[in-house]
Amino acid sequence: MNTEIDKKVDSLLKLMTIEEKVGQMNQYNGFWDVTGPAPEGGSAEKKYEHLRNGWVGSMLTVRGAKEVRAVQKIAVEETRLGIPLIIGFDVIHGYKTLSPIPLAEAASWDLKAIEKSASVAAAEASASGINWTFGPMVDIGRDARWGRVMEGAGEDPFLGSLIAQARVKGFQGDDLSAVNTIAACAKHFAAYGFAEAGKEYNTVDIGTSTLHNIVLPPFKAAAEAGVRTFMNSFNELNGVPVTGSSYLQRDILKGEWGFNGFVVSDWASINEMISWGHAKDKREAAKIAAIAGSDMDMEGNVYVEELAQLVKDGVVEEAILDDAVSRILKVKFELGLFDDPYKYCDETREKEVIGSKKHREAVLDMAKKSIVLLKNKNNLLPLKKEGQKIALIGALASDKSSPLGSWRIASDDETAVSVLEGMQKYTGNSVNYVKGPDVALETTTFLHEVKLNTKDTSGLEEAVTAAKSSDVVVMVLGEYGFQTGEGRSRTNLQLPGVQQELLEAVYKVNPNIVLVLNNGRPLAISWADEHIPAIVEAWQLGTETGNAVAEVLYGDYNPSGKLPMTFPRNVGQVPIYYNYKNTGRPVDKDDNVFWSHYVDVDKTPLYPFGHGLSYTSFEYSDLKLNASTFSISDEVQVSVTVTNTGKVEGKEVVQLYIRDLVGSITRPVKELKAFEMITLQPGVSKTVNFVLNKEALGFYNNDGKYVIESGDFKVFLGGSSDTVLEADFTLE
Ligand code: NOJ
Repeated sequence: MNTEIDKKVDSLLKLMTIEEKVGQMNQYNGFWDVTGPAPEGGSAEKKYEHLRNGWVGSMLTVRGAKEVRAVQKIAVEETRLGIPLIIGFDVIHGYKTLSPIPLAEAASWDLKAIEKSASVAAAEASASGINWTFGPMVDIGRDARWGRVMEGAGEDPFLGSLIAQARVKGFQGDDLSAVNTIAACAKHFAAYGFAEAGKEYNTVDIGTSTLHNIVLPPFKAAAEAGVRTFMNSFNELNGVPVTGSSYLQRDILKGEWGFNGFVVSDWASINEMISWGHAKDKREAAKIAAIAGSDMDMEGNVYVEELAQLVKDGVVEEAILDDAVSRILKVKFELGLFDDPYKYCDETREKEVIGSKKHREAVLDMAKKSIVLLKNKNNLLPLKKEGQKIALIGALASDKSSPLGSWRIASDDETAVSVLEGMQKYTGNSVNYVKGPDVALETTTFLHEVKLNTKDTSGLEEAVTAAKSSDVVVMVLGEYGFQTGEGRSRTNLQLPGVQQELLEAVYKVNPNIVLVLNNGRPLAISWADEHIPAIVEAWQLGTETGNAVAEVLYGDYNPSGKLPMTFPRNVGQVPIYYNYKNTGRPVDKDDNVFWSHYVDVDKTPLYPFGHGLSYTSFEYSDLKLNASTFSISDEVQVSVTVTNTGKVEGKEVVQLYIRDLVGSITRPVKELKAFEMITLQPGVSKTVNFVLNKEALGFYNNDGKYVIESGDFKVFLGGSSDTVLEADFTLE
């Protein structure tokens, strides 16, 4: 296809020297303050010098309409060809006005809301000079030890694919050249989430079946949704650092999937192939990465240092550069940067758009939808609005930074509405706040590990005293905002620091506890599940955290979130996920130990994927199929009746799973294939219809080919992966 843009790209490419081409393939780190020293030392002038020489095609971490205008001006007015920069930034769950962390958003299962949240992020970032986000992260996360599960959509490739598409649509809109949309980036290609033992940056060694059926689908979905860029990754996959993988980048992404945008490396991941022992020096690293299809070098400077010479020496063909540069220029044209390089640099718009009331409302809506009610014994929740003595306990309850989560580099500390502030808006009860022991010992930052308070229990006694004299205790406990994210793997999934001790001490004097969890990953909270009557999963919900939590606790919003990741009973069960394989010995048949289980803990999870309660209850009945035998061209029509059997209106995510009983590649015990969110008044029933076509019934074989095999299937319906109804059908 030779579009107008392709023609413009071709003509421009013809004018470019090898050095100018390499410059376009270089992404330079601005470290926010472009007037400050260059990242590798030296003066601001040195920074400008790189730009002036045309060595820079993109910058990252520069932000602000004024700052971006300054660097763009150099690129456009002072370089020979005046090619504008594309400005990248980690706009992960909002820019200044923050949405819940991505894992929390995924718990909403609300694709429209997730799309809206990404569009709010795009509107704010684009008003601040940015035209490209390094999101969405579409890595599947099965291992709660890995800190970056907070950035993804959880463990399921079907839900993950739909959320990937919603986020791409939200960032990019229908028109990439519009002033309020930005290019998206599907990352990290691929399999970063499968780091062994959940240890950050670790080896990934997975089979082809997992690669094709679990890891790749959300990336493919993002490509199909038109995502304009991909980012590769820090990990190796089966012995090859993915930054140097031709198989992933050339054969699959640009070949099979026909992706015509560009691939950026992760932060110096080209250089890291040297540490991996895959390249002997920078020259070899640059060669491998360029040939493998990494089009842009993020921050590593190896392309600018090595690539031109490699081409001159005949080691790398110039055609490789032409392909990479065409892809990069194409996206710049699509963004409209050649028409107006300063279109994202309007300071008036920046002031108007960022932090607007409309954006606050949107992130509040998203925050409420992200909350998951894990347990609610004897309907302790919602809280009565009047006449209650409430003790609110926990350092996280008054924290205005932690709820902002981990990826919040453009946002300001202390800008979240705390749970305390949210609760104080309900004036009918007396709220006695006692902080209790600290969670973090000192101010926490994005760059450094959180120093946890593991010893100091001061404040605990005061908390116990307050709990004694109250009707209900609300405890906000969990992970500090910077405890998840990149470089934040954990081997312990319990409540950090002395919070478990605090919880147990309070429980002894008043068991009437509502536990509000703050966390960026599934936690192992078996003790709490056994003892605490009400547990609310409130993740890190962004700017409007406290308002969202208070509305849910008081029943002004009826929770409808469902877990996008399985919660384990203890860390030893991890990785634990609902779509596991049956094994040859799934059940204890002979009353002996020789079956697939643990001897010290039940093999089931604490809370399964898809779990989430409501202040009302739902009953499932009448599961029907339009036939019991189907041919490959038929549609399998499934219907089920859902009834609101409780007393208030509620939303339910009706989930459909299948099991393919026999496969040439063994199939999981359950696979999510469809879901629908419905709202029901009390006493009202609704029939929900689903259609499964052949795309839903097949799988990728070990050659990476999609196949559909005849045989027997089961279909399951319910409000979680622990489904309640099932039926059978045969595909002939
Ligand atoms: C490294 C991270 O892995 C990636 O996700 C991020 O976009 C880049 N740093 C840029 O900050």
